[in-house]
Amino acid sequence: MAPLVAREREVEELLGGLEHARAGRGRLYVVVGEPGIGKTRLAHELATQAASSARILWGLCWEAGGAPPYWPWIQVLRDDNTFARWFDLEEDGDGTLSVTL
Ligand SMILES: Nc1ncnc2c1ncn2[C@@H]1O[C@H](COP(=O)(O)OP(=O)(O)OP(=O)(O)O)[C@@H](O)[C@H]1O
Ligand SMILES: [Mg+2]
Repeated sequence: MAPLVAREREVEELLGGLEHARAGRGRLYVVVGEPGIGKTRLAHELATQAASSARILWGLCWEAGGAPPYWPWIQVLRDDNTFARWFDLEEDGDGTLSVTL
């Protein structure tokens, strides 16, 4: 992947948020911008820099439409067995995901 350019301020702010989260003050960042402006690339940069000290979970929307309900969250739940244990997550043979809360 090509080096990230001209996003020092954004990366610094997001890494600051990570430090807050580590200190027990979690927060939500919403990255918005025009298509192709670099939102996903910025998220990758944060994930790369945080990977050695944090668990990174990805859930991506499906651009073409027709994705299953809650698709990004299903990916997150499937990505981490800890969540599966918390929520008593079961996947049927046909790929249907059942969650018992
Ligand atoms: N600051 C940057 N430095 C280097 N490359 C970048 C930067 N921002 C974006 N790119 C590159 O530009 C392309 C488009 O970026 P990206 O996919 O992150 O955009 P996006 O905002 O997530 O788009 P979309 O709205 O379609 O999801 C990618 O190849 C990405 O690596
Ligand atoms: Mg994107």
